[in-house]
Amino acid sequence: MTRAYRAAIVGTGGIANAHAEALAAAPGRVRLTHAVDVDQERASEFADRWSVPGAAPVIASTDLADVLARTREAGEPLDLVHVCTPPQSHFALAAQVLAAGVDVLLEKPPTLSLAELDQLIALEQETGAHVGVVFQHRFGAGAQRLRAMLDAAPSPLGRPLVALCNTLWYRDAEYFAAPWRGRWDTEGGGPTMGHGIHQLDLLLAVLGPWSEVTAMAGRQARETDTEDVSMAVVRFANGALASVVNSVVSPRQTSALRFDTEHATIELEHLYGYTDADWTFTPAPGREDLKELWTSDPDAATSSHSSQVLAILDALDAGLPLPVPATDARETIELVAALYASAFTGRPVRRGEIGPGHPFAAAMDGSGAPWARPAAAPGTEPDAAEPPAVTAPVPTVEAAIISATVPPSAETPPSPAAHIVVPAAAGLTAAPTPITEETR
Ligand SMILES: NC(=O)c1ccc[n+]([C@@H]2O[C@H](COP(=O)([O-])OP(=O)(O)OC[C@H]3O[C@@H](n4cnc5c(N)ncnc54)[C@H](O)[C@@H]3O)[C@@H](O)[C@H]2O)c1
Repeated sequence: MTRAYRAAIVGTGGIANAHAEALAAAPGRVRLTHAVDVDQERASEFADRWSVPGAAPVIASTDLADVLARTREAGEPLDLVHVCTPPQSHFALAAQVLAAGVDVLLEKPPTLSLAELDQLIALEQETGAHVGVVFQHRFGAGAQRLRAMLDAAPSPLGRPLVALCNTLWYRDAEYFAAPWRGRWDTEGGGPTMGHGIHQLDLLLAVLGPWSEVTAMAGRQARETDTEDVSMAVVRFANGALASVVNSVVSPRQTSALRFDTEHATIELEHLYGYTDADWTFTPAPGREDLKELWTSDPDAATSSHSSQVLAILDALDAGLPLPVPATDARETIELVAALYASAFTGRPVRRGEIGPGHPFAAAMDGSGAPWARPAAAPGTEPDAAEPPAVTAPVPTVEAAIISATVPPSAETPPSPAAHIVVPAAAGLTAAPTPITEETR
């Protein structure tokens, strides 16, 4: 590709700035051309902020369908659309962009449910366009070094045996005042889905496929519909056992992962993004020789949107699916669904169990969080061996098609999802989250 890729950002609130900064860090390779938000003023301010003096200004719009159609008709179609809106709108916006044949970089969590993600994967196959999911912690040098060491055959680290995965964050009532936070129908879950998912995804990226999870969840202190804490034990296909804590009620905050292999302990402790200095390596007694394998580099890639965007530009150059591919992100979303299923039904859940028709495939609260159900009369508790009832319908792409806005031109035959319009659902147009680290 000799020209710079053309990118648009949809949803110009807090995290969109990390995306714009990542694009600005790769001048000559990619250019932000459009900023779209349901709130015109917000889109305009954002477009002004990220326009580069001397270059074509970023164009602000409230209508993604119009931007997709106009750029295509002008012979300058977008190459990439970053979806940075609240989670409730991710599925329909991503479907709309895929249907236009354009690749999507989708903020976490990619969808509200496993069923929605499966629909996007099916749409990828139909349209040939790709979804990449933002899981930026995979792209720091430390994670890549650890993965490479474990992938080596034989691995100098030996087998992974034990892991700890702790997301202990603190979010106060003001944070949950944003209308989309803390609700199953708009955020898809609590700290398991919205916060710990970063660390869970890195755990999976390092250890590979999981096989079984046993979990508990609770509402300890926040007035949310979702959990504010979950805890789980996860068994991996390679035999490793991991303990996972996801919390938003923990005043001393940390994001911490620890991997004990046969020959070393590898630890990461940070909060919202790491450098090489945040990793420590402790060889097992008698294996001090391994220490020289873990070389730290102050200039190495950090875990950031910029590092992931660079990897995405490389993938676009090579004509490859965007990292993290939706099929890889599916592993993480399936584990999240299984964690909730285990916590809410009181049973261990195996990988592959949350298939089509399973209530926890259609929605992360599946058959309902225990605290949302009316208390059972003494002696009438449901039999824990009974499978939960299917309560939520599996969403369809068609269900996301609200109305047609862009009449197809003679040159552009209508495609099945070409006129998906995402409504500004109740509360989603509220003032954007202030741009602070605490918005994560
Ligand atoms: N990867 C990370 O580290 C990270 C950190 C923070 C947030 N996030 C994720 O990013 C997403 C956005 O979070 P935020 O904190 O930036 O939210 P925000 O509320 O600050 O901003 C969202 C913006 O989207 C706009 N919007 C809502 N619906 C829209 C629609 N249908 N079309 C166009 N615009 C629409 C809103 O008007 C608002 O300006 C969430 O999914 C969140 O989980 C990721």
